[in-house]
Parts: sequence; structure tokens; C-alpha cells
Amino acid sequence: MTTYTHSTIVAGIPWKNPVATASGTFLAEASTQYYDVSELGAVTTKGVSPIPWEGNPSPRTAESPSGTVNSVGLQNPGIDHYLANDLPQLKQLGATVITNVAGHTPDDYIQVVKKLDNSPADMLEINVSCPNVNAGGLSIGTDPTTLYNLITDLRKTNQQTNSSSNSPPTVTDITTIAKAATDAGADALSLINTLIGMRINTTTGQPILANTTGGLSGPAILPIGLANVWKVRTALPHTPIIGIGGIHNAHTALEYLYAGANAIEIGATALLNPQAPHTIAQELETLLDQRPALAAKLAAGETWR
Ligand SMILES: Cc1cc2nc3c(=O)[nH]c(=O)nc-3n(C[C@H](O)[C@H](O)[C@H](O)COP(=O)(O)O)c2cc1C
Repeated sequence: MTTYTHSTIVAGIPWKNPVATASGTFLAEASTQYYDVSELGAVTTKGVSPIPWEGNPSPRTAESPSGTVNSVGLQNPGIDHYLANDLPQLKQLGATVITNVAGHTPDDYIQVVKKLDNSPADMLEINVSCPNVNAGGLSIGTDPTTLYNLITDLRKTNQQTNSSSNSPPTVTDITTIAKAATDAGADALSLINTLIGMRINTTTGQPILANTTGGLSGPAILPIGLANVWKVRTALPHTPIIGIGGIHNAHTALEYLYAGANAIEIGATALLNPQAPHTIAQELETLLDQRPALAAKLAAGETWR
């Protein structure tokens, strides 16, 4: 068991270290076989909806140079199953849990967030940026007024849990969206979700994904995630930010911390190597040993810039 000395604080919640798993890329059953989840800063669960969702038809993933395009479509067994199974299991293992919330309509999100009130979830991450659903997701996160109204309603529903919104990179000005979320009461921002992409099968001439397009994640989006975190940090100097997108080793995690993130999440890289979040947390510990000024800021709940 590794002892972590470089903790961070995200919206008042202490994390052992700045590394979390990203939503949709962490499977409790699988990951317990690879590492002790209590050693991570936090684990983020797959988006949870009011009732079970089947997700999109297959094929749902297409490999791409430096990334993966997925159209899983928020498949999950629903909030009641989550509250009875996944959440208690993760808490029993000692994890700090970020519950990702999915919805097609504002009422969907409200139902889930209401059920999570007084649950042991440490933080909620509201997915307002999924490109793989026909309604909800991206259509909310690209409109500041709709997003403001949703977060205001969710804040009224659940006073207890700290919330962040997983925000879309494909907007004209992400700072307007970020401000709408924080003005409405989001305690933190998770930046960024995937970007819309596709692949085409050159034998059939048809899209590879059954859903035609999907969300591009992985190293290809690293520079985009960094630029968005940098921009939002400049506009909102005091808002906690979780940096996401293309992190594939401790140095790329460090880039996000220097861009102004309080912590980071690892997504597609963990699909290729389930051990990656743990390995990156260990390697980041050494890099932070060598950077005491950055480590001290993170431990105090502050950021590099
Ligand atoms: C297969 C897959 C499923 C995902 N499911 C969700 C989800 O349910 N909710 C969400 O907010 N983001 C979801 N995401 C987005 C990730 O949490 C993350 O924001 C994105 O993949 C960028 O990080 P990465 O480049 O490290 O993968 C998913 C990503 C992948 C690859």
C-alpha cells in the first residue's frame, strides 16, 4: 500500500491525492482486481439515471489515432440499483465517491439527485455534456440559461452533496457556460467531456458506430482539455476545477495541475490499462515530491494559477 503525502481539496472534500477515475471508464468489479480503490483521490461512477437505460446499439466504440470514439449512450442499471449495490460497495472499500448523474430531461436529473440526498456519495458530477444521447446531456450544457436553471433546481433538491458539472468543450465560449453553472450553485467544474467524432468503414462506406457519431476521448483531446481548463481558471480564479481529457501518464496529469486544476480524472487510458489511475497516482506522488510549491498549494485547496 502506497502512502500518499500530497493530498488535495476539491470544493471542501479532501482527496488523498489529485487522481480520480473518469465517469464511464471505471468498473468497481474490475478495478478491485487491479488496485485498492481507497488509494485513489476519488472514483467517479458511470452516469446514473432515474430508471435503467440500455444505451445505444453496437458497435459502440471505434479506435482512432490517439483516442477512442464511443457511443455507449449512458447505459446503466438506474439509481435504485446504484444506491443498493455500487455506492455501498465503493464506500465499504473506503473510496471517495463522485456519483455521475445522467438525464434526458431536467426532471430526470432532479429525480436522481433527490434520491442521492443524504446518501454516502461524497460529490455529484452532473453530466451536461454527453454527445451520445438525443435529449439532455450536450443540449443542456451548451445553453447557459438551460444549464443555470437546471443547476439551480438541483441545488434546491440536494443541499448536502458537493456538485460539479461535467462541461462540454464544443461551445463558442466555455467560460460563459462555466459561469452559468457556478452562478447557479455548482461547487466545482469537471472539464472536459468528449468531443463529437466519427470513423468510417472504407469497405462498406458506412459509419463504424451504429449511432453514426460518438465522443472522442484519449490523448488526442489532451491539448483541448488543457486549453479549456486554462481559460476557465483565468475567468474563475477561485472555482475548484477537475481537469479531464487525454491524461495518459503522470506528466500529462501534472500539465493539468499547472493549468490550474485542483485534481484530475483519467478516462480512456484506463480502458486500455485498468491499472493506469493507480500507477499515475503513484508516479504523480514522486513528481509532486519534486515540486513542493505546487504540492503545498494543492494541499491547501489552492491551485498553481
Ligand atoms: C466509454 C466512455 C463512457 C463515458 N461515460 C460517461 C458518463 O457516463 N458520464 C460522463 O459525464 N462522462 C462520461 N464519459 C466521459 C469521460 O468521463 C471523460 O470526460 C472523457 O472521456 C475525457 O477524458 P479521457 O480523454 O481521459 O477519456 C465517458 C467516456 C468514455 C470513453
